[in-house]
Amino acid sequence: MRIAVLGLGAVGKGVLRVLAEKPELGLVLTGVADSASGWIDPDGIDPGEVLDRKCTTNRCGTAGLTADDILDAGEFDVLVEVTPTNASTGEPALTYIRRALISGHHVVTSNKGPIAIAHAELEDLAREQGVALRYEATVGGAIPVIHAIRSGLLGNRAHAITGVLNGTCNYILTRMDEEGLTYDQALAEARELGYAEADPTYDVRGIDAAIKLVILANTCWNLGVTLNDVSITGIDCLTVDALRLAADQDCTIRLIAEASPERGQIRVAPRVLPRTHPLVIEGTLNAVTLSMDLAGEVTLMGRGAGSRETASAIVGDLLAIRDRFIECG
Ligand SMILES: NC(=O)c1ccc[n+]([C@@H]2O[C@H](COP(=O)([O-])OP(=O)(O)OC[C@H]3O[C@@H](n4cnc5c(N)ncnc54)[C@H](OP(=O)(O)O)[C@@H]3O)[C@@H](O)[C@H]2O)c1
Repeated sequence: MRIAVLGLGAVGKGVLRVLAEKPELGLVLTGVADSASGWIDPDGIDPGEVLDRKCTTNRCGTAGLTADDILDAGEFDVLVEVTPTNASTGEPALTYIRRALISGHHVVTSNKGPIAIAHAELEDLAREQGVALRYEATVGGAIPVIHAIRSGLLGNRAHAITGVLNGTCNYILTRMDEEGLTYDQALAEARELGYAEADPTYDVRGIDAAIKLVILANTCWNLGVTLNDVSITGIDCLTVDALRLAADQDCTIRLIAEASPERGQIRVAPRVLPRTHPLVIEGTLNAVTLSMDLAGEVTLMGRGAGSRETASAIVGDLLAIRDRFIECG
């Protein structure tokens, strides 16, 4: 199966490393682009050579060859779209994904923006064209939560989705709880370790978790919810005293994203939970509980970000497409 990769940052490089490590998967790279260069070869490109080039020159291919050129050439079966997230417009990724679907190509993305903004439109486009749109990596990194909703728990109806969807916030809350650090001290530590961005607003104000909740809710119930429908409270005003009070009751605080159409609820907010609660997880981990009518509560937990972990979700989506569309014709 031929794949073209748009974006060669942490995630794109992770995907190329897997292609180099596991040629037996039969995933052949035929196009790749970063923000200022690109490479197209219908006969296949050595992913190791692309990674070496990127490392030594900061460019993956020929200067001036762009994502649009790769889409124009159309020499791929699946577009892997892993460019930066724009939560307001979804662009330019939204246009890349639309173009690929309209021209009859499958799409796999790790980009939350387009999926949170235009899920229904993109799913409709994919259906019309008879191709797949998969986005496991947009929520929970390596955790196969969308696979569980769409395939693993088929036949169930979901009552609610509850989760810890932002590793940065979970790290900060874990450190405030364990060491009695203030919010500012824990944030500074998270930055030093590379767990928080220079501008952590999206994470600590709960917006990143809310975007992921929108994606899960639309995947599960197809309600067409948007970020504006989510009631959001972040962790940036939490004090050590609040965590101490919770600790007195053998509880702690976690940033919880929850959606339940039956309760008319979709919100992200800090919540006091008993220490034994399955969503009380440590550090940068993520976890999601799916409350189902047949299966009961199913909780999945794992690494919510990282180059290799996110590549795991993308490669899983690629192989699911290969098994469903390519080998069966
Ligand atoms: N990192 C994670 O753990 C993680 C986990 C889940 C989801 N995600 C999502 O996955 C996506 C990629 O994340 P990342 O961490 O790999 O980001 P990143 O490190 O910032 O890399 C982004 C890449 O996209 C390239 N790019 C920017 N604009 C482009 C354009 N118009 N056409 C082609 N390439 C373009 C950049 O080019 P240059 O190299 O030239 O700057 C860079 O290679 C984001 O949407 C992110 O939210 C990330």
